[in-house]
Amino acid sequence: MKINDKSFVPYIEEKAIQEAVQDIAQAINQDFAERKPVLVTVLNGAFMFASDLMKCLDIEVEISFVKVKSYEGTQSSGKVKQLFGLDTPLEGKDVILLEDIVDTGYTVQHLIKILEEKKPASINIASLLFKPDALQVPVSLKYKGIEIPNKFVVGYGLDYDGYGRQYKDIYRLKE
Ligand code: IMP
Repeated sequence: MKINDKSFVPYIEEKAIQEAVQDIAQAINQDFAERKPVLVTVLNGAFMFASDLMKCLDIEVEISFVKVKSYEGTQSSGKVKQLFGLDTPLEGKDVILLEDIVDTGYTVQHLIKILEEKKPASINIASLLFKPDALQVPVSLKYKGIEIPNKFVVGYGLDYDGYGRQYKDIYRLKE
């Protein structure tokens, strides 16, 4: 599969992705059985994860969106820009921050700081993918889907320069 100048090869199949989503949903259903959490979804990448996850939740739940950008091409720029969002009042609420992938960890670290200012009752992070070898700052992930090596991936919401988000499977950069 080709996106712009780069080639990608199949990496994680839809079935494995959906199983990971269901496992996270089951854990959230249990942990928040008596609560009404807000899913703060990080755009653009986490929209598919948020949609599939929400369909597996049987608790009362709200959704809200925040848009940030840290990647240029296939590299993290190390700087996180907030583009819009987080207008939902979060005081006293249980926030679950939904990420498609935690790579360097700068994005979630930045978002946690912004979220804390809104005085929620709790903040937990759920990420579908996690690259432990790329982590630059300590990040505590309560709900982790699939751990992957430090390789660039696309599909299931994840992009290469804006393209490749629509695939049901995940692909990795061909070396
Ligand atoms: P971090 O701030 O380095 O942890 O990166 C988080 C953000 O970078 C994610 O929300 C993605 O948007 C993007 N990102 C990180 N790794 C990848 C990748 O392999 N493919 C596509 N986007 C990625």
